[in-house]
Amino acid sequence: MVKSKKIKNICCLGAGYVGGPTMAVIADKCEDIHVNVVDICEKRIESWNNDNLDKLPVYEPGLREIILKKRNINLFFSTNIKEAISAADIIFVAVNTPTKLDGFGAGYASDLKYVESSIRKVAQYSVGHTIVVEKSTVPVKTAKIIKDLLNAVEVRNDSNLSKTFSVLSSPEFLAEGSAINDLENPDRILIGGEDELAIESLKNIYSRWIPTEKILVTNLWSSELSKLVSNAFLAQRISSINSISALCEKTGAKINQVSKSIGLDNRVGSKFLKAGPAFGGSCFQKDILSLVYLCKYYGLNDVAEYWESVVSINNWQRNRISNLIVETLFNTVSSKKIALLGFSYKANTNDTRESASIFIAKDLLKNGAVLSIHDPQVNPKQIKNELGIEENENYNENSEGCWSYFQNLYEAVKNADAIIILTEWEDYENLDWQLIYSLMRKPAWIFDTRSIISSKAAIKAGLKLWELGKGYLN
Ligand code: NAD
Ligand code: UGA
Repeated sequence: MVKSKKIKNICCLGAGYVGGPTMAVIADKCEDIHVNVVDICEKRIESWNNDNLDKLPVYEPGLREIILKKRNINLFFSTNIKEAISAADIIFVAVNTPTKLDGFGAGYASDLKYVESSIRKVAQYSVGHTIVVEKSTVPVKTAKIIKDLLNAVEVRNDSNLSKTFSVLSSPEFLAEGSAINDLENPDRILIGGEDELAIESLKNIYSRWIPTEKILVTNLWSSELSKLVSNAFLAQRISSINSISALCEKTGAKINQVSKSIGLDNRVGSKFLKAGPAFGGSCFQKDILSLVYLCKYYGLNDVAEYWESVVSINNWQRNRISNLIVETLFNTVSSKKIALLGFSYKANTNDTRESASIFIAKDLLKNGAVLSIHDPQVNPKQIKNELGIEENENYNENSEGCWSYFQNLYEAVKNADAIIILTEWEDYENLDWQLIYSLMRKPAWIFDTRSIISSKAAIKAGLKLWELGKGYLN
């Protein structure tokens, strides 16, 4: 039997959407382990330490309860990276790996600068033997870069504290909005590596609450690649169903009926077949583009083209929705008030990265629309950052387009020509359509890109309705 190292102290580099919730769950499940989550961003750490749990930097159902129970007991948030690394038996690297914006591979390759800078700190401050775990999503072969960087460190013979490292890959599969549940009951845990002792040590952490048959051990490269491919497959399903949503609108077929019919085939399965306004989030597009870059790098141009088409369909879906709205509103939205309901890229998260709402909002602003934006979790500051203009500021010199934020949905729809539902928040499912109709300018339009409202109730109240994958319903 392989003996493992007893883990007493964990450090996580990166207190973001992955680092924060993942470490909270580990701290919750492993009372005897001291978990330090560190970040270079002081503001983020301040928010994690805020007494007001509404101010946590990440909104996830179930997260605040764990933070309340574990913070400053065995879960700590700090900017003292040096101290946290020195004390750690195992270090999780959960920093961001965004798409490169400049230089070689710009627009496709993942930018590994944050991974590199964190690994350099690990090399500098670690003491004794340290297990380093890639939690961030990285291109296949990144573990080699990490090993090379760590091996380049001088061995501290002076104090007899020679440094050694084992590098593992253990990508994260949580989805935002269900992060705590995903972490507590994952479909699988992946551990890629060569050092059996290190693998066993990591397994021992996960196996406190995850059945061992769900823990899959592979080589490093399979583990790294599986994460990218996993996201690519999920995104591919969304692009596939979104492409069919347009065909449904042309033919009279209904997308929900088609999704159900194909999903009932066990070989296909029912999940991830919900048509929508295009996938958002910080990862699907980034990870597919990283996969495309890898394929091109290895000369697999046809494979690269195949995967890139998943992103092309995603862009097309957003564009066609913007076009359709303008066309429907008599070919102009200039100075028309449009209520945009939902700004996060999916329900139950405050994350807006790559949200379809951003792209559709910008298209409408360029066309001069006056947007009133509502979202139960996203604040106006975040909207401003994403849209690049202040509230009530004109989009550009040639456009009257501007936006404002409304906390009260019924205020947002007052005098609006149209409502667009872009995020599937539960709050939008059962609205008072009669009241809404009475508040809007006529003809009063609703564009439901998530198929969540009661179409009968909206139509009965007098609204004109377009639903994604069904088309114009009256
Ligand atoms: P994030 O941007 O929310 O958080 C990353 C954090 O790392 C930031 O707070 C940043 O300040 C910090 N950071 C950067 N460099 C650092 C350094 N040298 N030392 C310490 N902290 C540093 O990103 P995220 O959404 O948590 O994603 C992190 C990684 O996990 C990415 O590779 C992503 O692809 C992957 N991932 C994300 C999700 C998700 O749902 N968001 C799910 C699975 C995997
Ligand atoms: C996704 C994956 O689901 C996670 O397994 C993965 O860990 C994560 O990316 C990551 O690597 O970051 P996430 O982006 O948080 O998680 O959320 P999803 O539930 O996958 O939704 C992504 C987008 O697809 C959202 O905009 C959502 O509205 C859209 N979607 C999802 C659909 O349009 N239809 C569906 O059927 C499912």
